[in-house]
Amino acid sequence: MRNIPLALTYDDVLIIPKRSSLTSRSEANTKTRLTKKINLNIPIVSANMDTVSESEMAIALARLGGISFIHRFMSIEDNVEEIKRVKRAQNFIVADPYTIEASATIGEAKKFIAAHGVSGLLVADSNKKLKGILSKRDFVFVKDDSQTVEQTMTPREKLVVGDRNTSFVQAKEKMIQNKIEKLPLVDENDNIVGLITADDIKNLIEYPLANVDSDGRLIVGGSVGVHGDYLERAQALVKAGVDVLVVDIAHGHSEMMFNAIKKIREVCGDVQIIAGNIATAEAARDLCEAGVDALKVGVGPGTICITRLVTGCGVPQLTAVLSVAEVAKQYGVPVIADGGIQKSGDIVKAIGAGADTVMLGGLLAGTKESPGQIMNRGDKKYKVCRGSASFAVAQRRQAVSQEGKNLNEVVPEGVESVVLYKGPVAELIGQLVGGVKSGMSYTNSRTISDLQNNVDFMQITSAGARESGAHDLIDVK
Ligand code: XMP
Repeated sequence: MRNIPLALTYDDVLIIPKRSSLTSRSEANTKTRLTKKINLNIPIVSANMDTVSESEMAIALARLGGISFIHRFMSIEDNVEEIKRVKRAQNFIVADPYTIEASATIGEAKKFIAAHGVSGLLVADSNKKLKGILSKRDFVFVKDDSQTVEQTMTPREKLVVGDRNTSFVQAKEKMIQNKIEKLPLVDENDNIVGLITADDIKNLIEYPLANVDSDGRLIVGGSVGVHGDYLERAQALVKAGVDVLVVDIAHGHSEMMFNAIKKIREVCGDVQIIAGNIATAEAARDLCEAGVDALKVGVGPGTICITRLVTGCGVPQLTAVLSVAEVAKQYGVPVIADGGIQKSGDIVKAIGAGADTVMLGGLLAGTKESPGQIMNRGDKKYKVCRGSASFAVAQRRQAVSQEGKNLNEVVPEGVESVVLYKGPVAELIGQLVGGVKSGMSYTNSRTISDLQNNVDFMQITSAGARESGAHDLIDVK
């Protein structure tokens, strides 16, 4: 008879507690590697699903120390705009602020401001010479949209400005002294060379764990497939400033994946590339050899996945992470454990199995920052969560990109459902990271790399799993 190996997932094991020198979980540092070149301050990333990651989630999560991968089920133009929104949400200096000409109408200014999600515009001539500032509050009471920007703006002579060398502290002082919220930066000819906003300064203080690029902009990931417009999309996202691309298909250990990685490298240069999803050591070795910057692991463990039911294929997630991480370590390639994370203990187990980060879908789908409306049913609130391989997403793909298939040929490997509304993502992330730090303390781990090395698992029975949760309580409704 053939030897059939045993494979395990998170609930099948527990981590054996160890003597610990940590006196408080605050001594645990959650800094980790997302890719060969990108670090994160917390090991959490949000899934490139259309009910999880758009710019609002990406801004919130990057500020908290993680990163989001914006989904691709939208036109390339919308996808670019989503990336730009994140890159513009926070800066130290906005190097190329949006401007409008003084002769434009208030109607035009309103449209521009709404489309780009900003609170105001610098007014400039065609040579970028500063003429004034138009903020939203300047036109709140303007009824006539044909009025010009010049009639409504605060003119140049009333503006306080800085120069290219203005420091964080100087900018803050000028803003406090002059009670202003925007400090345009100009050169000796009064040409605009940047902008510092009070919000940016507040954000720097309020979000000490924010993951930012070398210009102080929040980092964000994009996603592409391996068919249709994927190369054009990859190029457009890189041009828009995306920090990392995930090439994401259901079966990442495929010739199409290797071909796509090669082509993306050819047209996008040395952008960081994550490849997935995979679940075996062989796939890890082949993709590491192909030169990827991180691996994404998980075939079928997700909340809304039915891949294993439809195809009979997959690997229980703990075994998948262990198998991939063992190989990835030899190549120095970080691993993302994607799917099946339901509680903070699962994150600790995933990292203990060798992952560097975890990707969350269903867990984040119910937060305020995920795309979609809150639905009220009785006394409960819900949001939609759907699989990227669900029929609903196939319909959306067909409408917006060349990747769409004839709907009669779709064999869904995902479902659409609802999850409980959970409120702001910051509260949930606070709980998850707190749990991870406690797990680090139980294993005498001060760093994520300690956690990867220190964990010893013990396989448990279903009685042990039952004992692990709250049990034998009276459910008072
Ligand atoms: P969680 O458990 O966090 O998992 O919700 C998120 C991950 O699930 C994957 N995903 C899918 N897998 N069919 C699948 O088999 C689908 O329709 C589907 N949609 C998402 C994906 O890897 C995601 O990050």
